[in-house]
Amino acid sequence: MKLAPSTAGPTAFAGGLLAVARHAGEAPSAAEAAIDAALDGALGRTAARLKFTGKPGQSVSLDTLGRLPATRVLLVGLGDRAKVAPGTLRDAGAQAVDAALGQRLDEVGFVVPEGADARLIAEGALLGAYRFDQHKKADPDDPPARVTRFDLLGAGDAALDRAATIAGAINLARTLVNEPPNVCTPSRLAAVAGEIASGADLGLTVLGPDEMEARGMGGILAVSAGAEEAPRLIHLTWQPEGAAAEGGIVIVGKGLTFDSGGLSIKPAKSMENMHIDMAGAAAVLGAMKIVAALRPGVTVHGIVGSCENMPDGKSYRPSDILEMYSGKTVEVLNTDAEGRIVLADCLHYAKQLQPKLIVDLATLTGACMVALGEHYAGLFTDDEAVAEELLASAREAGERLWRLPLDPKLAPSIKSQRADIKNLGGPYGGAITGALFLKEFVGDTPWAHLDIAGPATADKTDGHIRAGGTGYGVLTLWRLIERAASR
Ligand code: BES
Ligand code: MN
Ligand code: ZN
Repeated sequence: MKLAPSTAGPTAFAGGLLAVARHAGEAPSAAEAAIDAALDGALGRTAARLKFTGKPGQSVSLDTLGRLPATRVLLVGLGDRAKVAPGTLRDAGAQAVDAALGQRLDEVGFVVPEGADARLIAEGALLGAYRFDQHKKADPDDPPARVTRFDLLGAGDAALDRAATIAGAINLARTLVNEPPNVCTPSRLAAVAGEIASGADLGLTVLGPDEMEARGMGGILAVSAGAEEAPRLIHLTWQPEGAAAEGGIVIVGKGLTFDSGGLSIKPAKSMENMHIDMAGAAAVLGAMKIVAALRPGVTVHGIVGSCENMPDGKSYRPSDILEMYSGKTVEVLNTDAEGRIVLADCLHYAKQLQPKLIVDLATLTGACMVALGEHYAGLFTDDEAVAEELLASAREAGERLWRLPLDPKLAPSIKSQRADIKNLGGPYGGAITGALFLKEFVGDTPWAHLDIAGPATADKTDGHIRAGGTGYGVLTLWRLIERAASR
């Protein structure tokens, strides 16, 4: 889909679908009034009959019957002006795309409302047009509808370039999550990191099993032991000119390309979707793709710990004691609590980069979904300033993030008789004990953990979110980086 700015007046747009928006409790804009006048008042009459009040998600749509150059008109609600969030405008852009697809119209013109950020509407259009259909054969008699062009009536070039960069990175993350585990392997993730680095001024280091062995990364190696696929630790670096390698931000992603549970094998139903267990890695790669394009004035390291968790004669076992990269020992009680073990080695690696902040993203626990529902990610940190920073970044980005307690009261539950700690806590607060385990490996470095098990995927299409991988985290990470760079 091509985004294009346009100075055409609303009634001059000659493509398929002409979209215009209205806030709740407000009179029609001049653009809507002009469209309505060209239609002899049919838009206003239909809106009144359908009790359109401008609520978010509400819409009215009708054919122009040749009274306007456009084939069809769509009026969408944006809700109260004071309550408009980034998601509201992204949803409106996606809604226009959906309406065009439903009518098999391939061009959309969206009248950018007064005071609205055209970039967000454009992002919504690109996110709404996203499909994961490359493994499906098209029916030649009924090819899928496509929107090929999205004009923003009243927007400039710069906003649209940025929208294309940001939505492109989210859609990359979505595709990585959606790809099956026989395609999206650890080495495939490393190849994607290579594509992000090449052409941009990013450094790339990839560690395989031999390098991990040499460094004593006993955590990721143990989790990966039962798999045929080789593990990868991927490290992308953006260091702006004149900036030090130290003192930057490190973002770390869990990259389990398949989590069977290992010897503590999951029941079939719980295993069905476990190719999504690399969504943290996808968010990190997505954010680094934006970094590569927009070159923020702050050092950023992107780290992905990637492997498979499989049952085999070579698998790590419940009751094994692992010597981790940091030197701490971990008693394994359940091989399905593998994410924390992989991340522990990545966090120890991250800490040595001497950053001012480490943020990890992981589909870590089902317990986090029990606590917060599937639309919120859980935020864990000891540091009040870091909590504020992440909550503000998520709010400004339009992603749902809620803080949960990193309460040391639960720390005794991960103490082990046989080793320094164990990889399983008690029956309650599983998201918290997972986070407390990770905390053991960050030392004094300011750190936050985002448990994204819920929002990493969506079971149905809703607004600009499409069913499947959501790309959750890309926007929050990018906003965090932007905020750090503006300081
Ligand atoms: N990858 C899973 C967590 C998960 C569950 C992500 C559902 C997305 C949707 C993780 O590795 C896992 O298996 N966690 C266990 C931890 C338990 C063994 C302590 C869980 O949540 O049951
Ligand atoms: Mn698991
Ligand atoms: Zn997992």
